[in-house]
Amino acid sequence: KRAKRPAGAPDKSLAKKVTKIGVIGAGYMASQFALLFVRRLRVPVVITDLDQAHVDKGVAYIHDEIGKLQEKDRISPDEANRLRALVTGTTDKADFADCDWVIEAVFEELTVKQDVFAEVEQYLSDEAVLATNTSSLSVEQIGAKLKHPERLVGFHFFTPVAVMPLIEVVKTPHTDDATLSTAMVTAAALKKNAVITADTPGFVVNRVLAKVLGEAMHAVDDGTPFETVDKAFAPLGLPMAPSALLDLVGLKVGAHVLDTHHAAFPDRFYRSENLHRLAEYSTLLEKDSKGKVKGLDKGAAKILAG
Ligand code: 3HC
Repeated sequence: KRAKRPAGAPDKSLAKKVTKIGVIGAGYMASQFALLFVRRLRVPVVITDLDQAHVDKGVAYIHDEIGKLQEKDRISPDEANRLRALVTGTTDKADFADCDWVIEAVFEELTVKQDVFAEVEQYLSDEAVLATNTSSLSVEQIGAKLKHPERLVGFHFFTPVAVMPLIEVVKTPHTDDATLSTAMVTAAALKKNAVITADTPGFVVNRVLAKVLGEAMHAVDDGTPFETVDKAFAPLGLPMAPSALLDLVGLKVGAHVLDTHHAAFPDRFYRSENLHRLAEYSTLLEKDSKGKVKGLDKGAAKILAG
């Protein structure tokens, strides 16, 4: 009988047990998936960031979201308390010593990611698996300073993490079968569909996204207002208009994703200076209570007009 597993996936029996998770970075993306780990795997999750204020913000976000799940009757009050108790924050990476799965979502800068993993590795057992949520950097290069690059895998979530069904599991030339299998089994435990992709810029999904958002920005840069571009994209049936998607992803992250693709394939991907301007001046845009931009389509015109 043929095994039902995605192309290239090694046998599940090779997967290592995940009993404690370390999350490096306490920003929006990291907090979203830390919550998913605690909810689906029900194991302790420890979160770290550069300073206590960032750590506290990440833990508070998770606690709030657990509260919302309780309000929606998705979990009982007891369950909410149990989940909250599983989440801790620290600024000391030595607290990761007994983690067997460590995932990072820190700033998208190669050297930052390399250094943070090299620092954490010194506290970990040789069995621990490392995962990166990078959106478009090379996973192999992120592991360049590791003693054991075979334990590193890409594990790329999409926002909003709670509802987007896919995880891209990125295999480098060094990733061993036990690491890949652990990633696939972990993705299944999170109730996500996982696909194994090659370690190429943008993997699969962000290549498509960079094309779509890049072309939308190109049209804006050519003088068509954002509002019109959004309307013109409607027949494509995307769940969100380009401006809303850019806002969801984050203007800075969006600009970074376009830059990475343009650097890798200059003839195929567009780099928008205006997107950088929007990211830089985004404080001038009107925000909602969650800090998300309200109406990038209208606000952008003001910023781009100078
Ligand atoms: N943050 C967190 N949760 C959100 C959210 C947000 N911004 N927006 C919606 N949700 C949650 C809602 O709370 C709701 O959860 P619930 O079922 O637990 O109550 C659920 O999503 C559905 O929300 P809605 O009923 O409002 O559903 P919609 O039909 O409006 O769909 C959507 C919302 C799922 C966000 C949909 O618009 C969509 O699929 N948009 C496209 C998102 C996308 O393409 N994401 C990928 C971005 S690329 C990326 O992340 C990679 C990175 O590397 C750049």
